[in-house]
Amino acid sequence: MDIKKLKLYRDKCYINGEWINANSKENISVNNPASLEEIGTVPKCGKDETILAIESAQKAFPEWKAKSARERSNILRKWFELIIKNQEELAQIMTIEQGKPIKEARGEITYGASFVEWFSEEAKRVYGDTIPDPMTDRRIIVLKQPVGVVAAITPWNFPSSMITRKCAPALAVGCPVVIKPASQTPFSALALAALAEEAGFPKGTINVITGKASEIGEELSTSPIVRKLSFTGSTEVGKILLQKCSSTVKKVSMELGGHAPFIVFDDADINEAVVGAMQSKFRNTGQTCVCANRIYVQEKVHDEFCEKFIEAVSKLKVGEGLDEEVSSGPMIDEHSLAKVEEHVEDAVQMGAKVAIGGARHSLGKNFYQPTVLTGVTPKAKITFEETFGPVAPVYKFKDEKEVIELANNSPYGLASYFYSRDIGRIWRVAEGLEYGMVGVNTGLTSKAEAPFGGIKESGLGREGSKYGMEDFLEIKYINMSGLDK
Ligand code: SIN
Repeated sequence: MDIKKLKLYRDKCYINGEWINANSKENISVNNPASLEEIGTVPKCGKDETILAIESAQKAFPEWKAKSARERSNILRKWFELIIKNQEELAQIMTIEQGKPIKEARGEITYGASFVEWFSEEAKRVYGDTIPDPMTDRRIIVLKQPVGVVAAITPWNFPSSMITRKCAPALAVGCPVVIKPASQTPFSALALAALAEEAGFPKGTINVITGKASEIGEELSTSPIVRKLSFTGSTEVGKILLQKCSSTVKKVSMELGGHAPFIVFDDADINEAVVGAMQSKFRNTGQTCVCANRIYVQEKVHDEFCEKFIEAVSKLKVGEGLDEEVSSGPMIDEHSLAKVEEHVEDAVQMGAKVAIGGARHSLGKNFYQPTVLTGVTPKAKITFEETFGPVAPVYKFKDEKEVIELANNSPYGLASYFYSRDIGRIWRVAEGLEYGMVGVNTGLTSKAEAPFGGIKESGLGREGSKYGMEDFLEIKYINMSGLDK
């Protein structure tokens, strides 16, 4: 399928309501990770175009924040409806540039749209407070106001939903946005901008800039006009951005790396645990921050779980994502593939056994076989480094106390999962896990209604839910005095 023939295909940046090229007229190439072929190009913008985008957002801010909450809500609602109406085409664009199976791409469009719908409703619920003052002639009033221009730096693994999860709440409360999508997946972002234009966002409220990540990132994180930066990506890059943002004391939201433990207790429903492990581990070919990275199974049920899990993995069909039968797509690039390969080789050297997979796929290019490793040792790299690929390392454990310690032994604290039918254990373990999100008897926890985010080195702030609005608001306290005169 030729992406250029799709009506939402745009190959220019969207700044101040206009589709523009880089000043230099230079472009960057975008490749299909399944075929490795070039599918199109986007402008190679840098500092100057980023300043233009930031200034356009700044100009748009007064008018956008002055609109009533209902007016902003209506425009967001229109954007949501257009995304849903164009679901199939948006999914095709995503699969072509990112590689995920088309069914998952359709799911991501619905998931991404749900944030726009949710925040179109939340736009009307930015409540303040009144607080009793200790003095009788005074009143304390708390207002919530939009923080200002927001920068959103988004990843390639969820090219659509990470944009809507950041931008919908920002726009809902009255903040204009400048979006820098990942260079591997700009077309999903530009297609969303095309629909935003159709929905009627005033010019400058949504800007999408493609190009040199370092130059654009530098400007977005150091500009005094940008008052909030929201980033999803690696902990390594997140730490650099945090330092840069400190120069202008910006608000930040950081959705960073994860290393999710997935625990199966001996009282669990093993069939359900296998379903959850498949969803958590192999969604997006293992390229999610919330993927199960360490699967801990209690001694008594270890062999039964492994047998059923390996059987389920053997049924995954690897291939090019536009094929309706495919359930596991390519890795995004050679670099990611090499990391997966390194983790598997290292784990095997340290004593793990390859139960299934364990090598590049015969399809070649960026394809890797869905893999299960058993008997993985604690010193293997895969036990503490994020793999970001279709490899499931399984570990055996004896008791609850031991597994909570093992699970928490990580600098990361994003997602965690466990399976048990014992209500006492469910409370103890859910409270004991040092993670921002805990899935109990489920391998999928992401939804617009819930606060997504991590603790420790997995990040700061929450996206989605009522909490997702707070990060884009400033609190202003007004003390009214002289009321007894
Ligand atoms: C991520 O991996 O960055 C996001 C995953 C999700 O929203 O479920």
